[in-house]
Amino acid sequence: PKVVLAYSGGLDTSVILKWLQDNYDAEVITFTADIGQGEELEPARKKAIQLGIRPENIFIDDLREEFVRDFVFPMFRCNTLYEGEYLLGTSIARPLIAKRQIEIARQTGAQAVSHGATGKGNDQVRFELGYYALEPNIKVIAPWREWDLLSREKLLAYAQQAGIPIEMKHKQGGAPYSMDANLLHISYEGRHLEDPKAQAEADMWRWTVAPEQAPEQPCYLELEYEQGDPIALDGQRLTPAQMLAELNRIGGEHGVGRLDLVENRYVGMKSRGCYETPGGTILLKGHRGIESITLDREVAHLKDDLMARYAALIYNGYWWSPERQALQVLINHTQQNVNGWVRIKLYKGSASVVARDSKQTLFDQTIATFDDDGGAYDQADAGGFIKLNALRMRIAENARRRRSQ
Ligand code: ARG
Ligand code: SIN
Repeated sequence: PKVVLAYSGGLDTSVILKWLQDNYDAEVITFTADIGQGEELEPARKKAIQLGIRPENIFIDDLREEFVRDFVFPMFRCNTLYEGEYLLGTSIARPLIAKRQIEIARQTGAQAVSHGATGKGNDQVRFELGYYALEPNIKVIAPWREWDLLSREKLLAYAQQAGIPIEMKHKQGGAPYSMDANLLHISYEGRHLEDPKAQAEADMWRWTVAPEQAPEQPCYLELEYEQGDPIALDGQRLTPAQMLAELNRIGGEHGVGRLDLVENRYVGMKSRGCYETPGGTILLKGHRGIESITLDREVAHLKDDLMARYAALIYNGYWWSPERQALQVLINHTQQNVNGWVRIKLYKGSASVVARDSKQTLFDQTIATFDDDGGAYDQADAGGFIKLNALRMRIAENARRRRSQ
């Protein structure tokens, strides 16, 4: 059978490639995406060729703009955080990879798709829910759930015997972190992070400086928003991918966006991970800042109520579900007037909004002022407003007193 494999060019997916050839007699088609993980893609092509993949069966795509424009930004319109903290950097990339894999399967006439996620995690769920939603009868091969190469020694032995080049860092033993990177974040799991009472090693972090080592001088930046999406940085228009890359760079220099989190995986276990999301952290602040003056209170609160649900949908892999799509229509609708600019201060790990304005601002200075407002707001109205809102509590307290007499 023909199988489209999500292939990074790393050791694990190279072993999978070989294993699919050996165990399924598969004609493997490799798919490698650039979603901003910051790795060269040509080595993946070279390695695939070395492993006997025909050139026409190697797909390498630059999906950076699509990733940010059609996945990250739509998600950010909802100020999405899972369990109050996680910006969903890995979760939001999986639906795009699944979509492209299915497209390649259709194009090449492949009946099956395969990935390198383990049977213990979230990623398997996200990939496969995506595959089935887009191609109901696709065959899925998840080697980690089938093979017995569960220890690192076995994996390395298989690689050796299959003639897969093993890089020095692997030979030196000691399992690496389980990492995942794209334009939104880099994540670390495994190794000593598996003990939640152990602090992360200082040299683990790759994208950000430690906040205490960040510059003494703060940095100010100005973001311009159009319908809820950031379109310009300090007056310069940037594409979605450029925007996130640039904010990652600046945020990283100021130690913004580190997170050490114990989270609940969809499969039921708790897991500890560390994340660096500098640009995303800045964009979350910025978006909340511009919404604070352009959104109606009830709309903003409704969005907040739905946010946790929306975040769980994405975390659990339901990007392509009808409920996520319905929520997205609502969220997008709320963003029509979310236009304007926000000034943000970065300083030793923090990102704070310090100024904001919009042509569509709902902030009415004549009404809000503590000075004389010339009758714009009648303070006497507030007395009745408060009294009627207190009515049920007054009734209940009076009733309690009668009962206890
Ligand atoms: N725990 C995070 C999530 O579920 C990150 C997963 C990282 N995946 C990986 N293959 N290393 O979204
Ligand atoms: C994996 O299990 O492959 C990575 C972690 C996760 O998917 O949650």
